Amino acid sequence: MKRKLRMGMVGGGLTSFIGPVHRKAAGIDGEIELVCGAFSIIPGESKETGEALYLNPNRVYESYQEMFEKEKNLPPDQRIDFVSVVTPNHVHFGPSQMALESGFHVLVEKPIAFSLAEAKTLEKTVGKTGLLLGLTHTYTGYPLVKEARKMVADGAFGKIRKIYVEYPQGWLSTLLEKTGNMQASWRTDPKQSGMGGAIGDIGTHAANLAEYITGLQITEVCAMLNTVVKGRHLDDDSSMLLRFNNGASGVLMATQVAAGEENNLNIRIYGEKGGLEWKQEEPNTMILKWLDRPKEIIRAGQKYLSDDAKAFTRTPAGHPEGYLEAFANIYRSFTRAVRDFKPGKKLNIAKYDFPDVADGVRGMNFVQTVVKSANSTRKWTTLK
Ligand code: NAI
Repeated sequence: MKRKLRMGMVGGGLTSFIGPVHRKAAGIDGEIELVCGAFSIIPGESKETGEALYLNPNRVYESYQEMFEKEKNLPPDQRIDFVSVVTPNHVHFGPSQMALESGFHVLVEKPIAFSLAEAKTLEKTVGKTGLLLGLTHTYTGYPLVKEARKMVADGAFGKIRKIYVEYPQGWLSTLLEKTGNMQASWRTDPKQSGMGGAIGDIGTHAANLAEYITGLQITEVCAMLNTVVKGRHLDDDSSMLLRFNNGASGVLMATQVAAGEENNLNIRIYGEKGGLEWKQEEPNTMILKWLDRPKEIIRAGQKYLSDDAKAFTRTPAGHPEGYLEAFANIYRSFTRAVRDFKPGKKLNIAKYDFPDVADGVRGMNFVQTVVKSANSTRKWTTLK
């Protein structure tokens, strides 16, 4: 396929948060062209967004339903290859399901859906259509996260025993949703966000990162959820103990009321022989700790890193890469799979290294189990 891939977008209007980030990230490698979109629920904003992006007005739609109806009837050399779904959580399932049924691959934001039931339906549709579904768990895209995963898999730290993952943010420390802030409004509304607040919004990233780096799976949680800010309708703070499928234990904290914090996702993982520490706000540095020798500091872009990390690095050492490149790495892995896709032939998805529908189902399972555990007196609750 000697051309750029054609992408459509659902959500991502001019006033949205993550849509513009996706568009920049999708553009980084010059492999993808945005050709159409149903960008907004705000009247007139889809058109305005299309104009600002110099899109053909005939391919700027008022609804995703109209977009898929029209796109699937375009000639094959014009219609989209895949769609990027960047709407609030309650509008993930509808466009993703309709895109797959219309023959398009899907890259959808996390959490994959509003509920576990929706996530499982999407998994079935992916199975039935054979099409690809990627999920933007952004933090798996960083080069040093790839290095961490490789080191664990290679046994550098021995058997993993302990995992601490924290995701403190502070931006919801006040009742921001009552001030007209769009991002706060839907995130704190159970009808749009789902049964989890902070736990769905950022707890899913933390759980996914712990599982991605270690290659382990969370099997049980013992959770506490709090709604700290008065008048809020969903959790804005959480703490929990975790058990993993190799017997390791863990602690996960996800909060949006840690006043003064920005996006301080950080993880520490310890095995029999040593451990690692990585912080999203300083993503190009990782600390390695050893039982029998001094600590080491490793840096992104250096020759001594594994091919796994190098393959996801674009700039020389000391020239910082960050959030946009991490997103771009997910786009790159996903679009490589789209290019290799042949109808009727099953791809070995694991080879491409992007979060997929199975991660999405695990994420929704995690949210549901955490809520169940938080509401129960028995506390320890198994992920089904
Ligand atoms: P936002 O509120 O800033 O933007 C949502 C956009 O979707 C708006 O343009 C809105 O008009 C549009 N929209 C809503 N309903 C629509 C519909 N039926 N058809 C077409 N457009 C529609 O939300 P934000 O913060 O950008 O979050 C969007 C999604 O991205 C959420 O699922 C969130 O969890 C996820 N997210 C992921 C991040 C990551 O690091 N991977 C970071 C931030 C958000």
